[in-house]
Amino acid sequence: MEIKQDTLLIIDDKPENISVLFHFLVNHGFKILIAENGEDGLMNAEEEQPDLILLDVMMPEIDGFETCMRLKQNPKTQNIPVIFMTALSETVEKVKAFELGAVDYVTKPFQQEEVLARIKTHLVLRKLQQELEAKNEDLIKLNQEKNEFLDIVAHDLRNPLSAIYTAADFLKKKNPDAGSNINEMAGYILDASKQILNLIENFLNIKMIESGKEEIEREVVDIKMILQWMISHYAVNAQKKNITLHFHFEDKQQYLVWVNESRMTQVLENLISNAIKYSPHGKQVNIWLSKRQCCIRCEVEDQGPGLSESDKKQLFGKFARLSARPTGQESSVGLGLFIVKKLVEMMNGKIWCESELGHGATFIVEFPLAEQ
Ligand SMILES: Nc1ncnc2c1ncn2[C@@H]1O[C@H](COP(=O)(O)OP(=O)(O)OP(=O)(O)O)[C@@H](O)[C@H]1O
Ligand SMILES: [Mg+2]
Repeated sequence: MEIKQDTLLIIDDKPENISVLFHFLVNHGFKILIAENGEDGLMNAEEEQPDLILLDVMMPEIDGFETCMRLKQNPKTQNIPVIFMTALSETVEKVKAFELGAVDYVTKPFQQEEVLARIKTHLVLRKLQQELEAKNEDLIKLNQEKNEFLDIVAHDLRNPLSAIYTAADFLKKKNPDAGSNINEMAGYILDASKQILNLIENFLNIKMIESGKEEIEREVVDIKMILQWMISHYAVNAQKKNITLHFHFEDKQQYLVWVNESRMTQVLENLISNAIKYSPHGKQVNIWLSKRQCCIRCEVEDQGPGLSESDKKQLFGKFARLSARPTGQESSVGLGLFIVKKLVEMMNGKIWCESELGHGATFIVEFPLAEQ
């Protein structure tokens, strides 16, 4: 295999002064190009794409600083490492060289071995950087392909699955006898297809959130009414574990929020279903509604296992399946709260969790008040 010879471009108006360095570098296997002024250097760099440039500071017409600046402004040459050759001992000038994008400097008279060591170091660094850039590009491409693939899978699964769900629902309703085989099997199909549909829904939600494109529409919503309906709906599930749901609010108070109704519903459903999912049998879940100065606060308090400090830190992350595990047969993917937090923030609300391990958990969410 042929090993590529590294090419160095030396830009110096008096090449005769550096002929010793020139021979030394050639003897060490480098291909050397010479340019005797800044303009030629710029042209050469663009055409020949050297691996590294050694640039003299003091030159007539355009000096080293200006040459360096123009090299760094040109997308075709900006990534070529530049080492200044300088007789300057002034720190200010050296700093200026770095500010203009140089990677290093060597001082005249040259210590040849030192110059060689610096060149080699920067060539290695540049190669590593190029490898990293190439790998990053590969990763970005692979990630795009994976996302496109998942998109297709999600969309193509959703419709047939919904059909399976609807058919199972129909079968179950036609065979209401809880002891019958058909009723039991239809129940299994319903549960399983519901789980997969949830997963797909979560996936599509994350896609929507991460694309950052979705502007959600807002309206005035009565959060108390939503919660009343939701709690009666979830009470059936909770009953299977002998868990009771209690809703607390002030009778005469209005609880109007400025949100997207279906997104807010999704948030509250997640909090209530988690409270039921992670509570042991026979416990209570309390839901409190209160009006604050500029928001409505909803607290979902359970008597489950609670969360450790380390669990609390990961709680709103992606795929956070933490110490608490479902106490029934419920599924747990670890995406619910990640989506919830993003949705709440999209509606200018806030969410957090207060909990002590072994003493239950309270999830507190605040939604902006609708202007009266
Ligand atoms: N009320 C709670 N009490 C104790 N732990 C909880 C509670 N709610 C959530 N957790 C813990 O936080 C983790 C993340 O919750 P999250 O709702 O994001 O995911 P999940 O419920 O596991 O799955 P899904 O994606 O179906 O919602 C859970 O796996 C659980 O360990
Ligand atoms: Mg959840």
